[in-house]
Amino acid sequence: MSPSPTSNSTNQSWGGRFNEPTDAFVERFTASVDFDRRLAIHDIQGSVAHATMLARVGVLDEEERDAILSGLEGIRGEIERGEFEWSVRLEDVHMNIEARLTDKIGITGKKLHTGRSRNDQVATDIRLFLRDEIDIVAGELTRLRRGLIDLADREADTIMPGFTHLQTAQPVTFGHHLLAWQEMIARDHERLLDCRKRVNVMPLGAAALAGTTYPIDRHVTAELLGFERPAENSLDAVSDRDFAIEFTAFASILLMHLSRMSEELVLWTSAQFDFIDLPDRFCTGSSIMPQKKNPDVPELVRGKTGRVYGHLIGLLTLMKSQPLAYNKDNQEDKEPLFDTLDTVKGCLRAFADMVPAIEARKERMYEAAQGGFSTATDLADYLVRKGAAFRDAHAIVGQSVAYSIRHRKDLSEMTLEELQQFSALIGRDIFDVLTLEGSVAARNHIGGTAPDQVRAAAQRARDALAGST
Ligand code: ARG
Repeated sequence: MSPSPTSNSTNQSWGGRFNEPTDAFVERFTASVDFDRRLAIHDIQGSVAHATMLARVGVLDEEERDAILSGLEGIRGEIERGEFEWSVRLEDVHMNIEARLTDKIGITGKKLHTGRSRNDQVATDIRLFLRDEIDIVAGELTRLRRGLIDLADREADTIMPGFTHLQTAQPVTFGHHLLAWQEMIARDHERLLDCRKRVNVMPLGAAALAGTTYPIDRHVTAELLGFERPAENSLDAVSDRDFAIEFTAFASILLMHLSRMSEELVLWTSAQFDFIDLPDRFCTGSSIMPQKKNPDVPELVRGKTGRVYGHLIGLLTLMKSQPLAYNKDNQEDKEPLFDTLDTVKGCLRAFADMVPAIEARKERMYEAAQGGFSTATDLADYLVRKGAAFRDAHAIVGQSVAYSIRHRKDLSEMTLEELQQFSALIGRDIFDVLTLEGSVAARNHIGGTAPDQVRAAAQRARDALAGST
């Protein structure tokens, strides 16, 4: 294919050594401005700090610095008001802003790029941007955790069946189930705050790859930008995208958790379970079946998990086998990161809004816990307390359950005489043990499902949350 001519001359920023203009298609193909303009405000933030530092070390004089700073402020206003004219010809957010600065303040604008490269600039922008976004995500995690803890506290006495293999296993309290969700999200929160530490390191000063010959002071720039420290190695600083991968890994695990919660919400709202009610504002109807109320929000969150996993694999593959230092490949880091952020924020907002509105259908949960012989283990534990070996007790209870199934009644519905056919150890006190209330109350240790334990665990979770935020 012969190069298609462009109407423009070579790119001003780097066209000096070129003999012909860039192919028009290549210009569009290599441009990133359509998506990286999302970094604009953070690009300006980085430039303000860079110019301030350059003046402090004497590379710019104060007049030059002031012209640059007020020019950048003006550009920030143009962007915020939606007046800035983005040009694909200027390739990316960095060169768009720099060109506009020179338009506005003349040749002094061309001094801003002294001692830096787009390679350290873009790495800095993404980190500044992601750091702000992480703080928003952390706020949403806090809101979701608070909602789960409050609901768990309210539902500490509500009995429901607990499941293994999705078969009724033992009774648990709904509050206990909600605190299990809270534990998952608390770990995600911890992972996010840990990831933030590695985001908060400053690449600026690495320049293209080897550092710069100007007498820059990277500690000053780092402090101005609120970074923990300057990145240790210039080659690593411009090529490292671990932090984006880590964030996406955090997001993948979070979405995996939200998808599990979603799955349970979908099951529980079905007519077959009917354990909870989700308010109409979180559901939609069917255009053909008038009776339908569909749990679209949890379904959609469950579905969105897939795209976030995709972004994680995408970013890992993007970085695989890349030689040091910067490569153009890295331009592909932004869209998956942005989409991961948008997806995570949307899913968390939906969940944090929805959780406090979950209404437990207590009678339905209780009724379901009464079926499926959920207190069979309690009967076995009772026999052990009376002196049976656990394996023998297990066999005795197995026979009792088989009898119950044949006679279509729950263990608690059998007469004392019926129960005693299976073991002489069984006495009248067995009926306290076979109730659902007795069963959950007996699991009265840290991490257990007893209502008192759930209330205590909710309080600990509240304290932990207050300590971490
Ligand atoms: N748009 C580029 C990116 O996102 C900015 C850095 C470009 N550096 C370069 N040497 N071409 O990665």
